[in-house]
Amino acid sequence: MNPLPIGIFDSGVGGLSVAREIHSLLPAEPLLYLADTAYCPYGGRSVDEIRARSVAAVGTLYERGVKAVVVACNTATGAALELLRAEFPIPILGLEPAVKPAAQATRVGRVGVMATAGTLRSERFGRLVSTFAQGVEVFAVACPGLVELVEAGETEGELALGALSELLAPLREAGVDTIVLGCTHYPFLREAVAEVMGSGVTLLDSGRAVANHLDRVLRDADALADGPGGEIRMLTTGNPAAVATVVQRLEDLGDLARA
Ligand code: DGL
Repeated sequence: MNPLPIGIFDSGVGGLSVAREIHSLLPAEPLLYLADTAYCPYGGRSVDEIRARSVAAVGTLYERGVKAVVVACNTATGAALELLRAEFPIPILGLEPAVKPAAQATRVGRVGVMATAGTLRSERFGRLVSTFAQGVEVFAVACPGLVELVEAGETEGELALGALSELLAPLREAGVDTIVLGCTHYPFLREAVAEVMGSGVTLLDSGRAVANHLDRVLRDADALADGPGGEIRMLTTGNPAAVATVVQRLEDLGDLARA
């Protein structure tokens, strides 16, 4: 048994979509969440910048004493996962776009991937597609602006729907029946994406898969917590009051996360 918290980090509040899956699967675990808000978004930054921010973020969590870290950011995983594993002597779990389950789920053989430019240009993403999407056409769209909308708590309404109609036009034209939400901010836009794409399209993210992976890693190391209900404590490199306001606006998180 290990009562230390699990560290989770993202460029901003997007990784809370992963934290909520972890909390739902492992409710006894205390979670320490770091939002690197002062440097958000990561998607358009250089690989070197994303690596430097990832090392700084995990360093902060490590110094506070966490038993494992979940990199709840596809962009940081793509740029920095191996580096983080080499730097820190605790389990570091990454998160990748759900290309494999999407390739298995599609009935028409056409899958869309929404992700940041940083994720799409990473070698890790190229490997993911060539390994798991053979025989399936993959239409990847970089989605600039969506992270900023979620960071502002704008997950429904005209702004979100307007941006998504434009960004998703190529996926509608391609006739995909399955879309990967390949950035941890995007599950907060799930209803808006569904509205734009129509109900016949399946939307997949990786939150539950990473929670299951974490469960196995902690179980194998006999490092699960056994205390009363764990909560999410939040840290941010940005303005804590502003981040707390957004967290309150994001569905289902108000009672869970405390900045
Ligand atoms: N939420 C992140 C991801 O999963 C990063 C978004 C960003 O900062 O651009 O890719």
